[in-house]
Amino acid sequence: MKTNKRPPKLLYVTPAHQYPLGAMMPLERRMELLDWAYDQQCWIIEDDYDSEYHYQSRPVASLQGLARQQQVIYMGSFSKVLFPSLRLGYLILPPSLVDVFTKAKQEQTGVTPLHTQAVTATFMQERHFSRHLRKMRLLYEEKLNALITACQTLTPWCALHTQGAGMHLALEFKPGICENTVVQQLKAKNILCSPLSSYFYGQKKQQGLVLGFANSTVEEIVLGISILEKILSSNGT
Ligand SMILES: Cc1ncc(COP(=O)(O)O)c(C=O)c1O
Repeated sequence: MKTNKRPPKLLYVTPAHQYPLGAMMPLERRMELLDWAYDQQCWIIEDDYDSEYHYQSRPVASLQGLARQQQVIYMGSFSKVLFPSLRLGYLILPPSLVDVFTKAKQEQTGVTPLHTQAVTATFMQERHFSRHLRKMRLLYEEKLNALITACQTLTPWCALHTQGAGMHLALEFKPGICENTVVQQLKAKNILCSPLSSYFYGQKKQQGLVLGFANSTVEEIVLGISILEKILSSNGT
């Protein structure tokens, strides 16, 4: 692993499902990262934003669970497992950081409303949450499979990035396809998706699309991909 001259103080990772390309960090790589961060005296933020949705494999143990020292700040969210407007998330922190993070949270966004916390806690205690997760896993797996199947028609223009997890997949365009044109043409048909290049840092930006599928029906997914196929083929690339 390459190191800068000045060692970092904080590292942010999404090891369960890298956003947006979807890679999952294998166990050996996690151990390497933890050892490296320990040597550098560097904190790791582990953003585990959608590990509840792994359809084909069990998630690997979290970095926080694997760490021998207290060097990992684990971050979770209810945005994907319940709904984003709930605005509820959580941190699992080493005890030494609890006070400072509590203060920072209060200063930045105030206290999270107690009633939404209480309702979510009851929802979990009464086991509705685990039932909900089981149901949504099946539903999203069906949608992801439909999307992967539909995307097979796009192979002349794109490569597909998915590891059978999460609520999105990434399409990587082959050279010569203008991402911005495709995004605009899709938008004109009321299909909104993010340009893949917007997630890249630095000069080299891969062009493509990030396709979220959770809020579309299987029929909408199939229709959307057939529209994308028409756009790609009519662009003459
Ligand atoms: C990488 C990543 N982290 C975290 C989140 C959750 O963010 P929030 O809890 O603010 O909705 C998301 C949501 O899409 C995400 O993509």
